[in-house]
Amino acid sequence: MNIAVFASGNGSNLQALIDAEAKGDLAGGRILLVVCDKPAAFALERAGKAGIKTFVLEAKDFKSREDYDARIVRRLKEENIELVVLAGFMRILSAPFLEEYEGRVLNVHPALLPSFKGVHGIKDAFEYGVKVTGVTVHFVNNELDGGPVILQSCVRIEPDDTRETLEEKIHAEEHRLYPEAVRFFVQGKLKVEGRKVRILN
Ligand code: GRF
Repeated sequence: MNIAVFASGNGSNLQALIDAEAKGDLAGGRILLVVCDKPAAFALERAGKAGIKTFVLEAKDFKSREDYDARIVRRLKEENIELVVLAGFMRILSAPFLEEYEGRVLNVHPALLPSFKGVHGIKDAFEYGVKVTGVTVHFVNNELDGGPVILQSCVRIEPDDTRETLEEKIHAEEHRLYPEAVRFFVQGKLKVEGRKVRILN
């Protein structure tokens, strides 16, 4: 199955997926393309090192979100992309994009959804003072961080944790959980029934 990973920054989740593919842990899923909106993103270096094609589009070069997304869709079709994996991509995808790839867009969120939605999931959980937070992998729909949940994993916040140590723990958990969810998708094991995602054996 041909996969495109969308990233905007460090790309540590992209790296985890690249490493998983190299180990044969994506069940034949192949990362063919990395889509990025930031020319200086470290994710692009990671892609280059792994020999993966990159497609960089800056928002300033497009009139609207729809135009931007339509350009991506064109490229995804050229590459026969079957699965879109968002890994720290800091843009909201338009309705036409999501219609085109309905049920084939995944995201990882650094908190236990529906708690702590938005771009500061780790900081918000830390400052709220919860004792348990975690990681969520979910399908992407039109509602921000609101699509059906595929996998979740808990991370405890201990009294001596700082925001930095919590970030490290969350990222480590993301790097374990995201490749697993992608593998399940590639294996055709994810069955969406309304809000619920059943994982077939
Ligand atoms: C991750 O924490 C992910 O949950 C969030 O954005 C961050 C991306 O980190 N959506 P990286 O670029 O994969 O290192």
